[in-house]
Amino acid sequence: MSTPAHDRLFTPASLARLRGVADVDPDAVLHELSGDPLSTVEVLLTGWGCPPVDERVLAAAPRLRAIVHAAGSARALVTPACWQRGILVSTAAAANARPVAEFTLAAILLANKGAPAAARAYREQRRRIDPLAEYPAIGNRAKTVGLVGASRIGRRVIELLRPFELRVVVADPFLDDAEAARLGVERRELDELLVEADVVSLHAPSLPATRHLLDRRRLRLMRDGAVLVNTARGALVDHDALAAELRSGRISAVLDVTEPEPLPPESPLFSLPNVVLTPHIAGALGTEVVRLGDAAIEELSRYAAGVPFAHPLRAADLDRVA
Ligand SMILES: NC(=O)c1ccc[n+]([C@@H]2O[C@H](COP(=O)([O-])OP(=O)(O)OC[C@H]3O[C@@H](n4cnc5c(N)ncnc54)[C@H](O)[C@@H]3O)[C@@H](O)[C@H]2O)c1
Repeated sequence: MSTPAHDRLFTPASLARLRGVADVDPDAVLHELSGDPLSTVEVLLTGWGCPPVDERVLAAAPRLRAIVHAAGSARALVTPACWQRGILVSTAAAANARPVAEFTLAAILLANKGAPAAARAYREQRRRIDPLAEYPAIGNRAKTVGLVGASRIGRRVIELLRPFELRVVVADPFLDDAEAARLGVERRELDELLVEADVVSLHAPSLPATRHLLDRRRLRLMRDGAVLVNTARGALVDHDALAAELRSGRISAVLDVTEPEPLPPESPLFSLPNVVLTPHIAGALGTEVVRLGDAAIEELSRYAAGVPFAHPLRAADLDRVA
């Protein structure tokens, strides 16, 4: 990992814990996967900035058994050669799910309350706003939230939404009725969800099969006045079609991720009044980053104790997870 990543992930206390579970020199941060240290390592503790663990790295690391990634997705660094060698992989995606779910909850509650539109109107008109007359349908009651993907983040959002008087419907081709019932949500086909939901929140992974999952036809299925929240990946949405739908004023959007990232300066999404645009900040940042380091140390202590990882990444799941 990069030195800044190391410094953000670990505190003096967590480094002391790390030394307690592993034979490690926490100050020896490898920026490249080469050289002497590789010949003896059994576990690579990786983070932002880690290069791919490819055949060359594996050849130089004959004792390597596991990769513990202190960040969300490990797709960029775990190569097919790792799976062929039977390397065990764990990620901190579950710890990273928490701030994304919190961001999503905030977006849903503010959207239902009509806060972005009311704030904009107030700033522009600088007069008394009569919410009862001007926003008769706002409120966090009797609304339907549609989650696309019963993912780690999606499931946390379901939990966070429990105290509210909101109905939650979920579209996920890998979710069955029994699991939906266990989660306390109603399962829907994606098209049905789009027709029904007041807020649509995306939590599916970016895969070839999910590219432009929300295309022009599907965006048109969204209800008048509905809000699209995307904290997942920009590739899930056809952005030309989205811009057209937003320009009509029929729907609005909260977009933490876009395609491409960053957007070109001339993108209409910067200037459309019904878009809240954030620069990919939903995941662990700032004060939250240490949670990723803590999660990795927890996984290392499981490994050291001979206990399976709590949050493994498995080759067999790669066609449906982030
Ligand atoms: N904005 C951020 O900072 C940030 C941070 C972390 C993750 N993310 C993104 O959030 C999304 C969710 O991440 P996660 O770790 O919770 O995912 P996950 O790997 O836990 O789960 C993915 C889920 O998507 C479901 N799925 C697969 N194909 C689907 C489809 N066609 N329609 C609906 N559901 C489908 C799977 O069944 C699975 O339940 C990903 O796109 C990830 O890249 C964004």
